[in-house]
Amino acid sequence: MKNPRYLWRMKIAFFSTKIYDREFFDRYNTHHEIIYFEAPLNEHTVTLANGCKAICAFVNDKITLPVVTALKSNGVELIALRSAGFNNVDIAAAKANGIAVVRVPAYSPHAVAEHALALILTLNRKTHKAYNRVREGNFSLDRLTGFDLFGKTVGVIGTGKIGQVFCKIMLGLGCKVLAFDVIANKDMEATGVEYLPLLTIFQQADIISLHCPLTEQTKHIINANSIAMMKQGVMLINTSRGALVNTAAAIEGLKTGRIGYLGLDVYEQEEKLFFNDLSENIIQDDDIMRLLSFPNVLITSHQGFFTQEALAEIAKTTLSNVDEFEAGKTLKNIVV
Ligand code: NAI
Repeated sequence: MKNPRYLWRMKIAFFSTKIYDREFFDRYNTHHEIIYFEAPLNEHTVTLANGCKAICAFVNDKITLPVVTALKSNGVELIALRSAGFNNVDIAAAKANGIAVVRVPAYSPHAVAEHALALILTLNRKTHKAYNRVREGNFSLDRLTGFDLFGKTVGVIGTGKIGQVFCKIMLGLGCKVLAFDVIANKDMEATGVEYLPLLTIFQQADIISLHCPLTEQTKHIINANSIAMMKQGVMLINTSRGALVNTAAAIEGLKTGRIGYLGLDVYEQEEKLFFNDLSENIIQDDDIMRLLSFPNVLITSHQGFFTQEALAEIAKTTLSNVDEFEAGKTLKNIVV
């Protein structure tokens, strides 16, 4: 008997793939023809998608107007993002070219919220330093002093799926949680989160964590002016998108001590660095090298999403988005 699924088999070019992408997509793919490319998607690599009806892209693939135009002329009809954020896609261009864009809106808000907590705890209790010290036979506690999270004021910018989980975690630790969002969430208010103007949060929070998307309004939401309003020694955590923070202003804030701790899982110029082993290379990005020189800065390489559960959900939802498109169904996770 003919496999009805055969009719829906689609040839998909996957960009920016790593071994873990293959592992999870091969586990859940039953009928599509996936061609994995390690190369990122950009104007130089877009021809790799020739003959494919869909492409699958990740956070640092640059889907600009020329890329969209080239995809269109190559016959691509669907851009399937294996991410929640879509700031790297020229949505207007995709719309104008009749290319549908789908995404994975929520694969594990817990993964990212818990990673934000990991950054906070590591920066605060300096477990990364303690680990190295003790392994070298240094059992001294000098300069490892932390602070109780209990009773501290945490400011959360953006209380969507990830921000809400993060608020609950911090409430569970006994923190006072203040939030700013364009829409206050009643359920969050009922749990004890207090919505306040952004400026008040900048002024009152001991820890500020960013959980809003990158848009024209939020670009450089953390800048010299906002940093100047913050408490001396504030802890700033960004697990959302690099360009929410003006890197030069953050460096200045660290130099003056206004920023006492900086935890970044994302970075403004991350696309040239993150997800790659550059340990034998000369890093040309002076800003990240300056950031890495501070003892109170912790940078991870966009790994907030990186849990077993999230990778499984990303693969399942992306494949189901492709199936819906191929079957002509309503696209649940359409961006445009
Ligand atoms: P979401 O769409 O559920 O929530 C975003 C929230 O931000 C919404 O409540 C929205 O109203 C709010 N918002 C929009 N504009 C705002 C503004 N100007 N000021 C304050 N709040 C504003 O998104 P979700 O799933 O919670 O993800 C948040 C962000 O986390 C994503 O946009 C993405 O950039 C980032 N992310 C990072 C990952 C990582 O691995 N580090 C993985 C997944 C997402």
